[in-house]
Amino acid sequence: MPESIAEATLLYPSGTPRIDELTAEERAVYATLKPDLLPQHVAIIMDGNGRWAGHRSLKRFLGHQQGAKSVQLVTETASRIGLPWLTLYAFSLENNLRRPRAEVNFLMRLLKSYLEGNVQRMMDNNVRIRYIGRIHELPSEVQDKMRWAAETTARNTGTVLTLALNYGGRSEIVDAFRGLAAEMQATHMSPDRIAEKDIHRHLYTAHMPDPDLLIRTSGEMRISNYLLWQIAYTEIFVTERLWPDFRGIHLLEAIADFQRRERRYGGLGEACGEVEEDPEQMKIAVR
Ligand code: FPP
Repeated sequence: MPESIAEATLLYPSGTPRIDELTAEERAVYATLKPDLLPQHVAIIMDGNGRWAGHRSLKRFLGHQQGAKSVQLVTETASRIGLPWLTLYAFSLENNLRRPRAEVNFLMRLLKSYLEGNVQRMMDNNVRIRYIGRIHELPSEVQDKMRWAAETTARNTGTVLTLALNYGGRSEIVDAFRGLAAEMQATHMSPDRIAEKDIHRHLYTAHMPDPDLLIRTSGEMRISNYLLWQIAYTEIFVTERLWPDFRGIHLLEAIADFQRRERRYGGLGEACGEVEEDPEQMKIAVR
């Protein structure tokens, strides 16, 4: 570890809030939340960097640069409220394949400089950084910096910030199937013994709970190949706000909205009351 990166002086367990470090505006929203119903895992599709720049007649890369600032500010608010898991869609497989090379190269340089510039702040906030995606396909100098940031923050016990990089939900499932198929071959496991937990074990996210809340910025109503398996029962919150304008207070507002939802996981809600079986009423009329 380079000497310039100081160890986190105070290690507190995941979930320990530092509310006094929130801004006054954030504290006002936090005061409306039910602390025992905070999500464990928030995932975010960070969208709108290009539009943010376009609205200001700026080049797209300046939108990404501003977006990187939002990443750090939102992560710090997450750590202050004791959110255990924050997973950000930073670079998709499709971004890698379909964006102009100059933009992809810029995003890679931005990621490197983001890590260089923010690992100390992660240490100060007890944040651990991890990654999901086909990381091995990224440029080797970017992988080196990523490894350095992960190793430097590995002993932090607060929020786990996971960056999805060169990530695609379908390719994650393909990779999980490859892993499972290899294991089945080695252990002579019969296909009819495959259960959901076996697929889960081979996902990039095997070590974390599924997201409770998925936020998408900039108003688009799509999932864009993000965490397809994991969001089966996730609450979705879409805001028109563009990612470079998204701050910690907006994370708290999304959590407030999440707490007003009733999660049913395919069951019946509390408002439904007692369901009585009345054979007369339950007759099926097929005409
Ligand atoms: C979408 O904006 C966002 C991305 C391509 C990825 C997110 C990247 C960042 C937030 C910046 C860097 C992140 C880190 C971790 C350093 P867009 O360009 O698709 O926006 P548009 O739809 O308005 O064009």
